[in-house]
Amino acid sequence: MTQVFLASRNAKKIEEMARILREHLPEIEVLGIDDVEGYEEPVEDQATFEGNALLKARAGYAATGLPSLADDSGLCVDALNGMPGVLAGAVPVFAEIDQTLCLDPQSVQKAITPKTRAVLVVHMCGAMAQIDALGDLCRRHHLTLIEDAAQAAGATFQGRMLGTFGKAGCLSFDYVKTITCGEGGALLTDDEKAYRLAQAFTDHGHDHLGADRGSDQHPHIGTNYRLSELHAAVGVAQLARLDHILDLQRRHKAILKEGLAALGRLAFRTLPDPAGDSATFLSFLLPTEDEARQSAKALAAAGVDGCFYWYDNNWHYHRKWDHIKTLVSPGRLPIDRFGYGTDLTKIALPQSDAIMSRTISMLIKLRWTPEQVRDRLARMKSALA
Ligand SMILES: Cc1ncc(COP(=O)(O)O)c(C=O)c1O
Repeated sequence: MTQVFLASRNAKKIEEMARILREHLPEIEVLGIDDVEGYEEPVEDQATFEGNALLKARAGYAATGLPSLADDSGLCVDALNGMPGVLAGAVPVFAEIDQTLCLDPQSVQKAITPKTRAVLVVHMCGAMAQIDALGDLCRRHHLTLIEDAAQAAGATFQGRMLGTFGKAGCLSFDYVKTITCGEGGALLTDDEKAYRLAQAFTDHGHDHLGADRGSDQHPHIGTNYRLSELHAAVGVAQLARLDHILDLQRRHKAILKEGLAALGRLAFRTLPDPAGDSATFLSFLLPTEDEARQSAKALAAAGVDGCFYWYDNNWHYHRKWDHIKTLVSPGRLPIDRFGYGTDLTKIALPQSDAIMSRTISMLIKLRWTPEQVRDRLARMKSALA
């Protein structure tokens, strides 16, 4: 398999960042810009990262050709995402999540119609969806699989990095992600056409085939979602720490999870491959919604920070995302051309609600000392007992 990173020129730090990132994808051969027919100055190891994961995902849609299919093509997404598809011109069709906190393959199967073109899966909170089952489903139905691995840098399924299973995948390096370069991220794809489309889309439509910027052609319009060299300089240093960060997170999480499991009261998020979890979050489920709400309050009162009850939160879950459901936009959206075909304010996702209303996700931090981990566990146990 050939794995391609977005490319641009004269970006030494970005190249270095891409080279280090590739070291995490050892099984993958990289197609550099020098392999692209028509390129005038072969340059080794070029790579571009984009400035914004949402729009990275959007570039992924552009890359997969969805806009050209856009006349009411369906896109299957979960309750935690959907906007990039809307921006790219697709109509989001929501499916349920399961206890992986990611798309439920069975629900996706039911949501597929003759108009469905793609499935967008979000690897939520640092760990994997049932990506093998979703991949099989997409192959059977000839659908494009797109992965949002924004929160899951370094996470793997059966040894393979999340974001490399579908036609395109994205990572975010914004300031709250596993590694950060301030803002930015990467788009991964194994498809040369997708690579070239996305590369141009993120840089004003430049084809990057000319000897200099002024001699480039512009096959289509584009944006300026580029990562800067300054950001990449931070990214280089952060990527060098990725393995250490994952190791620390996994150790902290294992202690807390084992201690909380002993309470016998909690269920945990299902991990299709626990070894590949990046362990950025510990997500646990209380028996009922009331108990989850009370527990979230009790944890806060006990000084246990970083615990998110997404169900009541104003982001990352559809319930309170009215701006997305009503599609309020400063300008016309691509799908305004043909109507949405569905009223997003009326979507009902009872299975997702039943899971999310009982789920609390706690951030796993790097700087905790062993004493702080022990202290946190003790406080959590008494708050959740
Ligand atoms: C699942 C998911 N997708 C996309 C994004 C957007 O990432 P960025 O801030 O790099 O645009 C985020 C960021 O919070 C995210 O959590």
